[in-house]
This record gives sequence, structure tokens and C-alpha cells, in this order.
Amino acid sequence: MRHEFKGRSLSVINDLSIAERRYLFAKTRELKEAIAGRDEKKLAEFRIDDPDFGIYEVFLEDSTRTRESFKNAAKFHRVKLSSLSTDSSSFNKGESYADTFNTLAGYDNSIFIIRSKLEGVCRWLEEAAAGYAQRNGLPGRPSFINAGDGKHEHPTQELLDEFTFLEDNDWSSDHLHIALAGDLFHGRTVHSKAHGLTVFDSVKVDLIAPPELAMPTYYTEIMKGHGFEVREFSSIEEYLAQDAIADKWYFTRPQLERMGDRILQRQEELRESITFAQRFLPLIPEHTRFYHPLPRHKGHPVIPTFLDTTSLNGWERQSSNGMLVRIVLLGLFSGRIGEDYIIPEVQEERGEKEDFIERVPSSSSGQERHYSEGVHPISDGIVIDHIGKGDTTGEIRNHMATITRVLGLHGKGGDWVSTSNKDPDTFKGIIFRPDMKEFDRTSLKRLAAIAPGSTLNIIAHGQVLEKYRLHLPPKIYNFTDLSCKNPNCISNPIHHEQVPAFFWKTPSGAFVCEYCGKDHTFKEIWN
Ligand code: NCD
Repeated sequence: MRHEFKGRSLSVINDLSIAERRYLFAKTRELKEAIAGRDEKKLAEFRIDDPDFGIYEVFLEDSTRTRESFKNAAKFHRVKLSSLSTDSSSFNKGESYADTFNTLAGYDNSIFIIRSKLEGVCRWLEEAAAGYAQRNGLPGRPSFINAGDGKHEHPTQELLDEFTFLEDNDWSSDHLHIALAGDLFHGRTVHSKAHGLTVFDSVKVDLIAPPELAMPTYYTEIMKGHGFEVREFSSIEEYLAQDAIADKWYFTRPQLERMGDRILQRQEELRESITFAQRFLPLIPEHTRFYHPLPRHKGHPVIPTFLDTTSLNGWERQSSNGMLVRIVLLGLFSGRIGEDYIIPEVQEERGEKEDFIERVPSSSSGQERHYSEGVHPISDGIVIDHIGKGDTTGEIRNHMATITRVLGLHGKGGDWVSTSNKDPDTFKGIIFRPDMKEFDRTSLKRLAAIAPGSTLNIIAHGQVLEKYRLHLPPKIYNFTDLSCKNPNCISNPIHHEQVPAFFWKTPSGAFVCEYCGKDHTFKEIWN
């Protein structure tokens, strides 16, 4: 029987469905009780207990809690735990991530825990290592767990945060009202909350950060898309001047190491707007809890240390829950536990299924009288019409050159700029190729990806035989002229990792990189 978790990877929090996360939390709760009750029999059910089971941790950025809690979790499991010493490895000789991790997978290792500055590393390795495993006859595909990638995501932190919120909600997932205060711009832990908080049925999020450290719109849009009520405030002071104050506050540290000089010059002022002060205490509702992924800066903690001994302190238990959640996660991905997970009948799906190649009935197109200007000069061949409608003539010419290059439409014919039949002020591009007699399905998909809004006419004996109207496809990949524009993304060609670009279309028509999650407009994704 197929095991739902074995060999899975966790690159972003959304890699685990809501039902899977709830299952993981139920298991973590069982584990926590077994540890408290020293129930050895129960604990044995969780343990991988195999000295040959290989777990590798590779930390290319600093860490205490994430790294050490994973190490302690691996020790709980009594497995083979190794660490790659990244300051003396072949990374420094320019070796790629794929080559490095394939090598380690070949030494009989099944789970990799990776923290990196580059974003999207685990998603790429999951793909690359699956191919390696197949080529080399490994017994299964290795799992990759993202222990924080740049400013992108920190899914295992998100798991322990959600677990702690549920614990403090008496295990009810009905409602969450949370304030996120701090560096919401650079903090990957808060970015994972955009999808992560969907474990709660109704969510109200208050974002507290000065504009320089504000949550990127990309994430606030995701939150709104999930139906969260989202409000924004520029300081704790401003937040406390209104009545609807959250009972859970999640603080994050200003990530100075990721900030440019311009922001660093104003660090004191920025820090002040997100630091809790004694004078705020009377304004905090009863039963409020504070959380923090930690570390706190010893000189400038956003949660001052005088709060450690108060009932606000939720961050210490939150941190120790980290090891428990990670024990369960390793247990699931190793296949040791998780057999009793019941797959819900309605599965959440990613991406939209839609028809982006619309065939316009040939009866109407065959008798079409008002051929647009471009169809006239050829009696046989293909005509791509309505290219870049509404753009400037220069943009349209560039775009036609890209289409010609990407689709290999070299040969006899022409490209020209005309105006729309309906609106003489609107320009459009037309490409005609009299020698091309057919246009296969793959080319149609590629054309939709590069020239949405255009039409393709296949003409024979002066008649339009077939006509297609092309729309933005739900995903775009398989083009060499495509690349993610995030300089920190593993798929960005500047890193030479040879990762093929891949984009998903969002409901609002943006294109999101499969690896780092950065959103682009349709035009931005083309080189
Ligand atoms: C966080 C991280 O590294 O993203 N820490 C953690 O893993 N607990 C937050 C931070 O560095 O501020």
C-alpha cells in the first residue's frame, strides 16, 4: 500500500495539506503526552530506530534552534545523523547543489535538512534527486526539508508555530486572531504564515511593521485570497490605539543581515516601532500570549526580557515544541509513522485546470469575410494575429522577434505592425509564414505561453481552415528564454545551477516561480 508521507519533501508549508498538517499535530500531541508520561512503549512506536537510516543536515546559514532541534530529533530516532561541513565542502569549488546532494544521497541517506541563503533549493533538489535515484537504482526517492531559505519560507517553523497556537487554543482550529509584529519583509517565518494559517477555519491577521519592513503585497494578497481578515499598522503604538487587539502576538527580529545600507541607517527608529515597551502592558487584553521564532537580539530584544517571567511568555514552550514537531515530521517522511492517516475525500488542488487554447469554430472562420489585414497576403500558411494588442509599436516588434526566436519561426514571410479593425488607435502585431502548413499542439501551447491574446490562423487555398484563440496558460515552463528574476532564486541563471524556469499562474494573472515563489507579470518572465 502506498504510504502518503514516505519520501515526501517539505519545501513550502503548502506541500502539506491542511488535513496532513492536522494529522501531524495530532501525532505531535500524542508524542508530547508520551514524553511527559515517560510512556516508553508509546515512544517506541514513534522511533525510526534504525542505525542505517541516514539523515543529513546541511546548514549554509547560521542556526541554533532549527539545527539543534533537528539533531536532537534525529537522536531520538536513533538513526545515522551526518552534517556537511559547508565551509570546507566542494560548494566552495563551484559544485552545484544537485551534484552535491546527489552524491550524499548515493551514500545511503534518505532525509536532507537544508538551510540556505538561496531560495527554492529544496524544491529543485527534490526533482533533481528523484532523477538521480532512478538512474542509480536507489530504493526510494530522498526527502528534502527546508530549514529556512533566504527570505522565502520556513515551513518547519510554521509547523511548530501552528502547533503551539492550537495548543493555546485548547486544540480548537475554529478561529485565530493574531498580530504579526516585526520584520515582516525579510522574515521567512511570517511569509510561511500566508498559507500556513489556513489550518484555522477563520483567521484575522494584524500586521504591525513600519513601511520599510512591511509584509510584501504578494503575501497579503495570498492571505486575503484565503479569506483572512487583514489589517495593517505601522507601529505597536498605533495598533494599541484601537480596540480589536489580538490575543496572540508573534514577534520577529529585524533581520539586519538582510538589509541594505539605506534601511540600516534608520534601524533604531524602525526597531522602536516594533519593540514592546513597559508602558504598553496595561493595554494588553487578559490571556494574551507572545511568541517569537527566536533568536532575540541580546542588546535590542523586540520582546524585552522583563516579560520572560510573565504569563505572556509563550515563546519558550513554542521553542521546545520545535523538537517534537520535527520528530514527528522525520517519522512521517521515513515512513515509520503515518500509516493510519486517512486521505480526505475532497483533496485540495493546486493550479487551475482551464482551456487556454480555444478553438474558434471553423464554420465561422471558414466563411469569415472581414479577414484582418494580415490574413490577406497569403493563400496558404499560418498567420498569428493580435500580438501584443495595445502595446507600443516598439514593444510589439520586440515581442514578435521573441516569438519568432522561441518558436523557431524562421523562414519566408513577414512580421508587421497594424492597427485593430475595431480601434484604429490600438496597435497589434501580425506574423505570417506562407510556407508553414501546420502548427502542432506543443507549438500551440508554446504560443499561448508567449503570446496570450493572439490568434492563430491556418490557411489553405485562401480559406481559414483552423483558427485558435490563445489565453494565458496555468503554467509556463520548457522554454530556454524564460527565467525567474529574483536574484536569490536557485533557478535564476546567475547561479549556474541549471534549473529550468517554471511558473504558475495565480488567479489574479501573476506568474509565480515554482522555486522561490516570487511573482512576476507575464512580460517579466521572458528574457
Ligand atoms: C528564524 C529564521 O532563521 O528564519 N529563526 C528560527 O529558525 N527559529 C528567525 C530569525 O532568524 O530571526
